[in-house]
Amino acid sequence: RVVAVIMVGGPTKGTRFRPLSLNVPKPLFPIAGQPMVHHPISACRRIPNLAQIYLIGFYEEREFALYVSSISNELRIPVRYLREDKPHGSAGGLYSFRDYIMEDSPSHIVLLNCDVCSSFPLPDMLEAHKKYGGMGTLLVNKVSAESANQFGELVADPETNELLHYTEKPETFVSDLINCGVYIFTPNIFSAIEDVLKQKKDRANLRRVSSFEALHSATKALPPDFVRLDQDILSPRAGKKELYTYQTLDFWEQIKTPGMSLRCSGLYLSQFRRTSPHLLASGDGKRTATIVGDVYIHPSAKVHPTSKIGPNVSISANARVGAGARLINCIILDDVEIMENAVVIHSIVGWKSSIGKWSRVQGEGDHNAKLGITILGEAVDVEDEVVVVNSIVLPNKTLNVSVQEEIIL
Ligand code: GDD
Repeated sequence: RVVAVIMVGGPTKGTRFRPLSLNVPKPLFPIAGQPMVHHPISACRRIPNLAQIYLIGFYEEREFALYVSSISNELRIPVRYLREDKPHGSAGGLYSFRDYIMEDSPSHIVLLNCDVCSSFPLPDMLEAHKKYGGMGTLLVNKVSAESANQFGELVADPETNELLHYTEKPETFVSDLINCGVYIFTPNIFSAIEDVLKQKKDRANLRRVSSFEALHSATKALPPDFVRLDQDILSPRAGKKELYTYQTLDFWEQIKTPGMSLRCSGLYLSQFRRTSPHLLASGDGKRTATIVGDVYIHPSAKVHPTSKIGPNVSISANARVGAGARLINCIILDDVEIMENAVVIHSIVGWKSSIGKWSRVQGEGDHNAKLGITILGEAVDVEDEVVVVNSIVLPNKTLNVSVQEEIIL
């Protein structure tokens, strides 16, 4: 049997995701019309003999309650949210719920970061892992040399795929092969974490003897029960025939910013084209809107037949799109109103916002730049004939004049 664990983190981790994380925990932010965490969860369904899916984080329990119960019913696999009282780090969080995870006596534990976008080739990874015979297998990906330092960089043996060397976000370039935050472990991972906890305890005891060192390390020391998977487990255990790699040749991205959520929305929509085309809108331009490329429209949204939508657009519940509106590369959240002849391009429009007639809300479309897309927070009103370009607007603002390259607080 296999148990899947998805690390969802907590509120302090989502600051780069503002202003969108002000309303909803980042793991529940809609990407391609589904909560971010929904994508790894549905990938887990393809794992043979999956017994349970756990989400581990330090958000309030009630924030996940509704989602977890509806997804459990839908998938007919028990999905549970386990709340840490405080952050324990990626490995420490896993360790604190080892009794739950081991309840089903799993032979393997699939561990996923919630903020990555991937086709999650889990069944193939599991097969490869069994062949390697190690304690863990990491999904890895090649990225550009310039962007590699945002990730764990690693070196693998080209023949055996063994993980030979691992450095988390190094300052000087090590390798363009990076850690994707998707893992398969045997239950031995818990002994590995236990070893780290023991070492930390021993070191803390030693420090108590030497007060000089205590003075110096007190400020930077992490809590003794805080264990990071990357620095504390992967780095020291590389090159010991315990860890192996599996390279994905399919899409993979990290979702740390709103710009990347827009890009990943597009990646998942094009995956739907292959895996679940019934989720995508199709339009003939007569009774329904004209649809271009991959578009998701929630069944409760009302979209005028003379509007033109796509590519890469996702429209959430109860949104209304007026006559002659044009939407390209954008996420429209719940209860948004887009009035006649408005244009939205390279943008995210927050819950309950409204965009007036003949207005334009647009970004230049650079997903990595700070102001590369326009983001409207919750309940922003853009009045008629106003143009908003490359800007971020915090919740509850009214814009009656045009703005460009601005952050409106
Ligand atoms: N429950 C819980 N508790 N989750 C946590 C905690 C914690 O204390 N700390 C982090 N997480 C979750 C985050 O929400 C995220 O899903 C995952 O664990 C990893 O987060 P970080 O440890 O902050 O690392 P990162 O996202 O900057 O980088 C990691 O992922 C990259 C791939 O996206 C590293 O493993 C990199 O090496 C890797 O390239």
